[in-house]
Amino acid sequence: MSDLICVVGARPNFMKMAPILDALRAYPAVRPFLVHTGQHYDQAMSRVFFTELGLPVPDRNLEVGSDTHARQTARIMESFDALLDERSAWMVVVVGDVNSTVACSLVAVKRGVRVAHVEAGLRSRDRSMPEEINRLVTDAISDLLFATSPDAVDNLVAEGVARSKIHLVGNPMIDTLKRHLDAARGRKTLDRFGLPARGYAVVTLHRPSNVDDGAGLGSILEALRGVADRLPVLFPVHPRTRERMTRLGFRAPASLQVCDPLGYLDFLGLLDSARFVLTDSGGIQEETTALDVPCLTLRANTERPITIDEGTNRLLGDDPAAILPAVDAIMGGQAPPARSPKLWDGRAGERIASILAEEAGDH
Ligand code: UD1
Repeated sequence: MSDLICVVGARPNFMKMAPILDALRAYPAVRPFLVHTGQHYDQAMSRVFFTELGLPVPDRNLEVGSDTHARQTARIMESFDALLDERSAWMVVVVGDVNSTVACSLVAVKRGVRVAHVEAGLRSRDRSMPEEINRLVTDAISDLLFATSPDAVDNLVAEGVARSKIHLVGNPMIDTLKRHLDAARGRKTLDRFGLPARGYAVVTLHRPSNVDDGAGLGSILEALRGVADRLPVLFPVHPRTRERMTRLGFRAPASLQVCDPLGYLDFLGLLDSARFVLTDSGGIQEETTALDVPCLTLRANTERPITIDEGTNRLLGDDPAAILPAVDAIMGGQAPPARSPKLWDGRAGERIASILAEEAGDH
C-alpha cells in the first residue's frame, strides 16, 4: 500500500500533527510518512517541538528555509513534487494555514492525490492576511475537511463544500495541550523567570500587520511600556519581530522581560499561570480559551470567533491605544468567563485518525 503523507512546516503545525500521528499508531495498515518542509528550521522554532512533543524524526526534510512568499511557496512546491515522484501517496494530510499547507495541497491535487486539511474552514474574512489566502485555497481543493468548530463547518458549507467531505472533529492542538499540561506545570518556568503566579502578562507578536510597519510597531512597544508599569511582562520575541526591530532600530522598553522564542512546555507553563496574554497569534487564542486565561488579541479580526463567543478572547482591533484600557479592565477583575468549546476534549487526533483509517480501507 502507498503512503499517507503528513506535512508539517512551521511552528504551529507541530502541535496539530503530533496527536494525529500518535493516534494513527492504532492502525498499523496506515503508513504515515512525515515530511517537514523546513519552513521553520531553528532549534527554537522547530527542533525543540519534535523533542518535547515526541514527534518522530521526519522521514524527509525539504529544507526550504525562509524567503518571500512566492519564492518560499514555489520552493516547497518543487521539492514536494519531486518527493511525490519518488513516493507513491494515496493521500496528503496538511494542517493549519501556513505557506507549507497551501503549497503541498496544490502539488498533491494537481497530481491526482487526495488532500485532507486539518483545521479547515476558519475564516477571518481579511484577505490582506496571507494565512486567509492559504486557508481559502487549501479548503477549495481539499477532499477531506476536518473542522475544529461549528462556525468553520458553516463557512465551508456557505462556500459550497459538500457536507459529505466535512468532519467536525474538534481541536488537535488542544489534544496536545491537555497531554502536556502536567509536564509543563512541573517545569516551574515562571520561577526561572522570577514571575509571580497569576501576577504577570505574556506578550507575543509576529503578524506582519503589527510588526512590519515601523509606526505601528513603535506604538505597540510604547503601549507595552505602560503594561509593564502595571505588572511584570514577559515578551518572547519571534525571529520575524526581532529582525524587524533590529532593522527599524527599535528596542523593547527596559521594563519588559525579553527572551528568545520558548519551547512548547516552557511556553505552555507560562501561559497557564499568566494573569492575561496579549497576542496576535491564532493558536494562542485557542490555548488561552482551553486554559481559561484572559486573552487580548491585537488584531482587527479573528478566524477563531469561538474563542470570543465561548472562550476568554477579546479582540482589541489594530489600534495600540486600545491596549491599556483593556489591560486595566482585566486588572480590575473584568474577564469573560470561559467554557471550553465542545469537542476540544483531547480526542480530536483519535477522531481524525479513525476517519483516515476508514479512507485507507476504501482506498
Ligand atoms: C509563519 C506563518 C504564520 C504563523 C507563523 C508562526 C506563513 C505565511 N506564515 O510566519 O502563519 O503564524 O509562521 O511562527 O506561512 N525565521 C527564523 N528561523 C526560523 C523561521 C523563520 O529566523 O526557523 C525568521 C526569518 O527571518 C524569516 C522570518 O522569521 O524570514 C519569517 O518566517 P516565515 O516562515 O516566513 O513566516 P512567520 O512570520 O514565521
